Amino acid sequence: MEKTLQGLAEAFAGESQANRKYTAYAAQAEKEGYKQAAKLFRAAAEAETIHALTHLKNMGKIKSTKENLADAIAGETHEYQIMYPEFIEHAQAENQAAALRGFKFAAGAEEVHANLYKKALANIDNEVTTDLYLCTICGHIHEGTAPDVCPICMAKAQAFKIVD
Ligand code: FE2
Ligand code: FE2
Ligand code: FE2
Repeated sequence: MEKTLQGLAEAFAGESQANRKYTAYAAQAEKEGYKQAAKLFRAAAEAETIHALTHLKNMGKIKSTKENLADAIAGETHEYQIMYPEFIEHAQAENQAAALRGFKFAAGAEEVHANLYKKALANIDNEVTTDLYLCTICGHIHEGTAPDVCPICMAKAQAFKIVD
């Protein structure tokens, strides 16, 4: 079972990454005018999601929503408190401006995600309906109305899309 679990974890990570990679490759193929290659990348991207979700389920990782919210809080908190600060330091030391910017945007957004998850968990038995706006530049999530300027990446209001 231990080796199987290790395999499931590795396969989940690999399939999840393949999904995002093929989605990016599909957009690139569209940009280059290769319609069929784009379609194939989109089909395979969706197939990898099916594989990823099967592995996640077989790992027993999909629990109750309360447990899933607690897991999400732990993950986001680790990212903004430990993972990204370390990566930011490395990118600064190596003068990697684009990576640094990406790490900073993500770190800022993950902190907001963690707080939104905390709030959702606290209110789970009395859910409140609010609008959620996603910044398509940095991944910041804004509750209520779209801000004039993104507090994390400074994008204008039109960069936000409402999530249903
Ligand atoms: Fe796959
Ligand atoms: Fe996040
Ligand atoms: Fe943003």
